[in-house]
Amino acid sequence: MNSPEVRPPSLEDGGAALFAWVDEMRENHPVIEDDDDTWHVFRHADVRRIFTDHQTFSSDPGLLLPDTAEAVRGNMAAVDPPVHHRLRKLVSKAFTPKVVADLEPRIVTATDTLITEMAERDDPDLIRDLAYALPVVVIGDLIGIPPEDRTLYRGWADALLAGGGPQEDGTSLTEVMENYLSALLAQRRRTPEDDLFSALAHAEVDGEHLADHEVLNFASLLLAAGHITTTMMLGNTVLSLHEFPEAAAAVRRDPSLVPSLLEEVTRHRPPIMRLLRISTTDVELGGVTIPAKSMVTPWVLGANRDPRHHTRPAEFDPRPRKQTNLAFGGGVHFCLGAPLARLEGRVVFEQLLDRFADIRVRDGVQVGYPSPMIFGVRELPVELVPRHTIARSA
Ligand code: HEM
Repeated sequence: MNSPEVRPPSLEDGGAALFAWVDEMRENHPVIEDDDDTWHVFRHADVRRIFTDHQTFSSDPGLLLPDTAEAVRGNMAAVDPPVHHRLRKLVSKAFTPKVVADLEPRIVTATDTLITEMAERDDPDLIRDLAYALPVVVIGDLIGIPPEDRTLYRGWADALLAGGGPQEDGTSLTEVMENYLSALLAQRRRTPEDDLFSALAHAEVDGEHLADHEVLNFASLLLAAGHITTTMMLGNTVLSLHEFPEAAAAVRRDPSLVPSLLEEVTRHRPPIMRLLRISTTDVELGGVTIPAKSMVTPWVLGANRDPRHHTRPAEFDPRPRKQTNLAFGGGVHFCLGAPLARLEGRVVFEQLLDRFADIRVRDGVQVGYPSPMIFGVRELPVELVPRHTIARSA
């Protein structure tokens, strides 16, 4: 068979063309090189192998682009073991399941406030008013940013997404963030409080602590890794409930399905639909040899729709599935924030389903995000049909 041009379709049509393309590639060209010398990998078993074999598939962009070495120093997503192991162990000491679980009351309150404000608007937009706003508040709270500085933090999130260019006064965004967070960290080193920054400042494994720059890089990583991903998951869930009314009815009848609904949404529309690795040696995958020092892009979207792993992969089913999906990655870099994302999703959809009899997506939704890695919508204008009109207005 001739090799096709490797050009993923855009998400403009809501994803149908991309789904069809990914399915076609997975079945007929499971490992294929594009014109830019990047290797695309589509099958579940191969994508899983890439995630779990970090010796052969490195996360360190410095292997191909030496200039990035300084920028990624201390960023655990962009380093390999053993450096990764040390960072992850230290950070996990502070970012514990209890720290995440303890955030629930604050997430409930923040969600309630945002939904109330959204419902009062003439032009509610699920992304702008809730899905984009909530993760910033949550990450800010988690780190320990004082509530009065929330707008500042949100400003950084906006600027980071817009490309992180210089601020109005000419200083770089990184400098501004670093200055602010350094001052906060110094304060927490002196007087610990009940927040992640204090825990990170004092985390210790085998007598080792995190250096200041490592704590600061981790704070930036949380914002980069935990914001838009969660935004996309929340938006994709509303889109899925709209597109699959039977699934929506099942979850409304039995709200205990919310957690499995969220897993299914991330399987079906994974917010990070593909990742990047660099091969460290020549490696055989799917019957072809990928040369050493190649850029490799494992397609989570392809793996999550692979019939070799999932039963009925093209169907959307909110009931628990037996097979796990790869939306949160795998191996040593498995998403550190997955429990937090799941908690935010559960709180949001418990409240949305309780407060609205229907959430109708308005026409003209712009599907797509300005990154070829992200699956989701930038805007989501909705019509909210309240459930408790009488009770609430009484
Ligand atoms: C639905 C939401 C989310 C999705 C789909 C998602 C997905 C992922 C994926 C696929 C990876 C693996 C990256 C790789 O292997 O190169 C990852 C790593 C990571 N995620 Fe998430 N994520 C989400 C939410 C969050 C949240 C809420 C946080 C924290 C606030 C977070 C923090 C991280 C961190 C720190 C890493 C790097 C872990 C490491 O390298 O050891 N993520 N995430």
